[in-house]
Amino acid sequence: MARAAGLHPDHWYPVACSNRLRQGQVIETKFLDRPIAVFRGADGKVGAIENRCAHRQLKLSLGAVQGCTLVCAYHGWAYDTSGRCVSVAHDTFGKSIDRIRVGSFPVRERYGLIWIFPGAPARASQTPMPEIPELEAPAPWASVAADFVWSSHFSMIIENVSDFTHAHLHRKYRPFNDAKLISLETVGTQVRLTYDVLVGDGRISKHFVDRTRTRVDRMDLCFEYPYQWSNTGDRIKHWCFVLPMDARTTHAFFIFYFDAVQIPLLRRPMPRALQGILMRLAKRLLITPLLSQDGQMVQAEQQAFERYPDTAGHELNPAVPAFQQVIIDQWRRHAMPANVTHEPA
Ligand code: FES
Ligand SMILES: [Fe+2]
Repeated sequence: MARAAGLHPDHWYPVACSNRLRQGQVIETKFLDRPIAVFRGADGKVGAIENRCAHRQLKLSLGAVQGCTLVCAYHGWAYDTSGRCVSVAHDTFGKSIDRIRVGSFPVRERYGLIWIFPGAPARASQTPMPEIPELEAPAPWASVAADFVWSSHFSMIIENVSDFTHAHLHRKYRPFNDAKLISLETVGTQVRLTYDVLVGDGRISKHFVDRTRTRVDRMDLCFEYPYQWSNTGDRIKHWCFVLPMDARTTHAFFIFYFDAVQIPLLRRPMPRALQGILMRLAKRLLITPLLSQDGQMVQAEQQAFERYPDTAGHELNPAVPAFQQVIIDQWRRHAMPANVTHEPA
């Protein structure tokens, strides 16, 4: 079942927003219970290494960044971004430290996020990351990023962002209304769906969206394993990335980007110079409150799941089991050795 599945490690996963990890800082995170220390050295480069000192297994995130190394708090063993112990702060009794190391993860920074590859490192360079050309164009679209750590299985979040039957929850903001699922198909590891829906019709949201230039009655969405995205009229888009920290904790990252923002009340296209201010306003007035509602629900859903683990709910939206099937299939692909064939359950 989907709630018992993890995510396949052979993908790129965000672990932090770039602006939350300044030079000299370290943070701790996890991928499916594997502890990871992420740090930024004096050269600005980010390292992601196993969060465990090779000496006494203390968390390296208890230590501090010195130069381009992460130094354990206890005896001062220093690790570089490849996980190699490069110096110790005491006498080595004539012993070599050359072979002392901890695991490390390939790292990239893109779209304002720090990404790691928790799978087989040799596969990292051939594994594509999500492509968001709109954010890398010479005149990038206006964008808002938000991230949350929720006590919830990642699959509940994937379902939440693509299943518009929960418009009731957002009735105050009305980001999507009267949704009708008009297409749903699974192609490989993608679940593609389209809703006829009224987008951004709420008391607050209607001020931000330029409805004269944007087709706001249809939305395409995709669960592009392990990521999720939406597209409204090629002018309003978003990605949702989930980092499965453990079976009941997920770090969710959202990037919303717009080619149809307007000045609220004046109904005029927004000059680029003012987009930053508008995006901060939209984040505070609309995006954070909306996603916080979702966060409350997926955390309540996790508690309910733990209270009634064997009680299957009645699911009405066919998109939900479609997501779950892809999640289960990919997790089996990871869990089963490649040369073993097995019967479907
Ligand atoms: S426990 Fe880390 S240096 Fe000793
Ligand atoms: Fe929602």
